[in-house]
Amino acid sequence: MFDFFHKKTPEKLFYATDMHAHLIPGVDDGAPDTGTSTYCLAGLNELGVTRQLLTPHVTQHTFENTRDTLAAPFAELKAAIAEAGIPVDVMHSAEYRLDDFFKKNVLGPDDFMLLPNNHVLIENSFVVQILEFEEIVFELKSRGYQPILAHPERYFYYREKREKYKQLQQYEVELQVNILSFAGHYGKHEREIAWWMLENGLVDYIGTDMHRRSHMDELRHFATTRDFRRLIKLQKVKNDTAFI
Ligand SMILES: [Fe+2]
Repeated sequence: MFDFFHKKTPEKLFYATDMHAHLIPGVDDGAPDTGTSTYCLAGLNELGVTRQLLTPHVTQHTFENTRDTLAAPFAELKAAIAEAGIPVDVMHSAEYRLDDFFKKNVLGPDDFMLLPNNHVLIENSFVVQILEFEEIVFELKSRGYQPILAHPERYFYYREKREKYKQLQQYEVELQVNILSFAGHYGKHEREIAWWMLENGLVDYIGTDMHRRSHMDELRHFATTRDFRRLIKLQKVKNDTAFI
C-alpha cells in the first residue's frame, strides 16, 4: 500500500552539533578506514550537522585509547575531511566505559579527554552496572565535570526499573539517547524507552553514536518518516547550546 505519510526526501536534523560518534578510523569498533569516516560525515552534513564531536571508546582490554594513541588517526581523519571538502568541524574527546581502566588510568591521574565545557561522556557496561557508579558520578561532579551518560535506553537493568532514569536525573547526570533508538534499531524495548524518556522530559541530548555506513543509511531513511517528524516536534535537546 502506498504510504501517504512517507516522504522520500529526508528532513534536516534538529541540531547542528552531533556529540557522539565513532568515526576516527581504526581506533575502536567504529569506522575502520577514512573512506567510511568521510562517507558518514558527508551524509551527516547533508542532514545539517556542521560540528561533529568524536567519541572513541575507552574500555579496558579492548580499546585502551589515550590522547597519544588517538593523535595520528585523528590527524589522518582531518586530512581526509579536508581533501574531501566536507564542511564539518571535528574535534574529539572519548566515550569512557566505567571500568577498572577508567578508575585507574583516567580518574586516577585525572586525564580526561573532555567534551567542551567540562562535559565527560560515560557509558555503563551492557551486562551489569559498576557497583561504584554513584561514587564515580559524585567524584566527577566534585572535580567540576558534568557527566553525560550515553544511551541509557540500552541498559536492560535500567529498563526493568524505570524510576532509575529519574534517579539519574536527580544525581544530575545528563542523559543522551541514540537517535536510532527512536527508530527501533536496537530493538523494541530500547525504542519504547527512548520515546518514554522523551515524553517524560528525560532526554538532554540526542546523538548518532555512528559507527558504520549502515548507521548513516538508516538515519537517512529514518529522517524521511513520520516518527522523525514527531521527534523534531517533541525534542528539546541541548546539543547546540551546551558545548560552546
Ligand atoms: Fe558510543
